Amino acid sequence: MSVLLTTEIPGIPRHQGKVRDVFDFGDRLLIVASDRISAFDWILPTGIPDKGRLLTQMSLFWFERIERTHHLISADPRDLPLPAGTDVEALLGRSMVVKKTRVIPIECVVRGFLAGSGWKDYQATGIVSGVKLPAGLQESSRLPAPIFTPSTKASEGHDEPISYEEVVQEIGDETAAAIRDASLEVYSRAAQYAEERGLILADTKFEFGLPVHGGSASDIILIDEVLTPDSSRYWPLDDYEPGRTQQSFDKQYVRNWLLSTDWDRNSPPPALPEDVVRNTRAKYIEAYEKLTGSRFV
Ligand SMILES: Nc1ncnc2c1ncn2[C@@H]1O[C@H](COP(=O)(O)OP(=O)(O)O)[C@@H](O)[C@H]1O
Ligand SMILES: [Mg+2]
Repeated sequence: MSVLLTTEIPGIPRHQGKVRDVFDFGDRLLIVASDRISAFDWILPTGIPDKGRLLTQMSLFWFERIERTHHLISADPRDLPLPAGTDVEALLGRSMVVKKTRVIPIECVVRGFLAGSGWKDYQATGIVSGVKLPAGLQESSRLPAPIFTPSTKASEGHDEPISYEEVVQEIGDETAAAIRDASLEVYSRAAQYAEERGLILADTKFEFGLPVHGGSASDIILIDEVLTPDSSRYWPLDDYEPGRTQQSFDKQYVRNWLLSTDWDRNSPPPALPEDVVRNTRAKYIEAYEKLTGSRFV
């Protein structure tokens, strides 16, 4: 099985994120999901075969169902003026042609359940990102209502949780309210849909942009990947039980393996063993198939 760790298009400027290669075609971008995997803000030296295609297909699946302005134009890189010598085969199935935007520097996290850092904060203070929650909740409890728990979008290092008031200070009250409301709305619909498919969408992260020139709060555009296991926690519904950690379709499996090694998280991470790669790939495929109801070929 082959992995694609990096892509190139001759003569086109490329920005490499942790997972995606972003090519600038002027008013449009080509976002190519590689098979890279990141954990604890490090890109691991080992890729996961088919991960880029699986994640792109899940994003596309959701974009088709989201009734909001979003950045997706097409899934076919050949819609762009690709220069001669482009390895088109490598791009197919893992590409999104999107409208280029000015990225709003906030990670729009929505939580419907108590897990991860939300659970940690709740245990310590009863408060998650400035939202006071009722007493007596357990790990993985469903929240009375989904909450917006934004964080900064750091270009280097860790994203830090911030309060809604800090978002307002950063981007103004109208834009803050617009991205909060849009995030909660898209999450709620998606969570309902996922549950009908036997998946709990415990939490997720959205990004929004504004038109490159001008644009106000009413012009926000949903960008980036949406509702993939890299940006979301998905749990199998039939195994759900509050009061403990849930098995999940996200990178928790890889994180757990890394935590079981003596890696210090401050130096380049170790390569993943073959069985960890295989099991991780199987989890991405299972999430894809459960969600979409189609087989991954
Ligand atoms: N429509 C868009 N306009 C501008 N930037 C975008 C758009 N969609 C996604 N992006 C950016 O493209 C990058 C995707 O690469 P990714 O691998 O997720 O990087 P990162 O390590 O920064 O998360 C992100 O920085 C994201 O903000
Ligand atoms: Mg990203």
